[in-house]
Amino acid sequence: MRIGIAYDLFDPSLVKEGPPDLYEEWDQEVTINAIAEALSQMGHEPVLLGGGKAFLDRILSDPPDLVFNIAEGYGTRSREAHIPAILEFLGIPYTGSDPLTLALTLDKELAKTVVASAGVKVPASRTAETVAELEEVEFPLPAILKLRWEGSSMGLRRNSKVKTREEMLSLGRWLLETYGRPIMVEEFVPGREITVGVIGNGRDARVFASLLIEHVSLPNEDFVYSIEAKRNCKEEIRYTVNPPLDEATRVALEESALSAYRVLGCRDVSRIDFRLGSDGEPYFLEVNPLPGLNPTYSDLWIMADQLGIKYQELVGEILGAALKRLGMA
Ligand SMILES: Nc1ncnc2c1ncn2[C@@H]1O[C@H](COP(=O)(O)OP(=O)(O)O)[C@@H](O)[C@H]1O
Ligand SMILES: [Mg+2]
Repeated sequence: MRIGIAYDLFDPSLVKEGPPDLYEEWDQEVTINAIAEALSQMGHEPVLLGGGKAFLDRILSDPPDLVFNIAEGYGTRSREAHIPAILEFLGIPYTGSDPLTLALTLDKELAKTVVASAGVKVPASRTAETVAELEEVEFPLPAILKLRWEGSSMGLRRNSKVKTREEMLSLGRWLLETYGRPIMVEEFVPGREITVGVIGNGRDARVFASLLIEHVSLPNEDFVYSIEAKRNCKEEIRYTVNPPLDEATRVALEESALSAYRVLGCRDVSRIDFRLGSDGEPYFLEVNPLPGLNPTYSDLWIMADQLGIKYQELVGEILGAALKRLGMA
């Protein structure tokens, strides 16, 4: 099968203006090559489609049989929906979630509202679009400040947990002015951080694995899986696949992950971030329907690697779920 890969490549020359993490979501060449290699090993013909206008030219002139989509897009909260919307319009099948789910899940506030409607616990939050709105926010502290729509810890720093109103206002002002998009002031969930990989569709959707993410020295209540921590993960972070949890917590975590996946309409694969609250319950933070597939540091790959699953098998599981859903298996 000819399988196109849709992606947005990180280009260091873009990082001239604005904060250094503005393009954090974009992929490295090594990731695209690893996916292409995995597809070849499975007997497919990978076609590099890229993103943006080049993608449009290529998809119109020589459409593949299927698109393996990891494109992050650029510019708006609908950015991840752009490529799937084009593919849907052209009637070309693709892996992963549809435009509605990709747009909904990038907006963490909207995603939480929908996930809470399915009975999953979520941290309380307020949003602010302007400094004036932020100044009106009355919220118990400590809290964490984050961008309402972004990923890869963009805008999330070591100091994103704020303990005083002064810290909240000064960090909030900086975020609003630097990134020019709305922010969330969110209840800080202080317990262990666990991300859950889900693969499949409908009744076949299953927990692939969960991953405990801990700082090597900081206690959980001071830990933020920040941009600095992600970039320095080899030194700072300890990852444990399928960590020992008491049975009730494990069941609650897995059920919450599957409920969130279903209610948001995720397809084929997603990675869902949770932290345990002081009540021991899992709190949903966000879902990543385009989870990173970097063959060194992406959480989904770390899960597979620790389980002895090869990169090609991981890509094969995602592709297999899509082909089955599409009736192309
Ligand atoms: N409400 C919260 N309580 C505690 N930590 C949080 C909360 N929200 C985010 N974090 C921390 O910040 C990290 C990144 O936040 P997340 O919402 O997952 O955004 P991203 O899309 O950038 O991964 C999380 O992995 C977690 O460590
Ligand atoms: Mg996250």
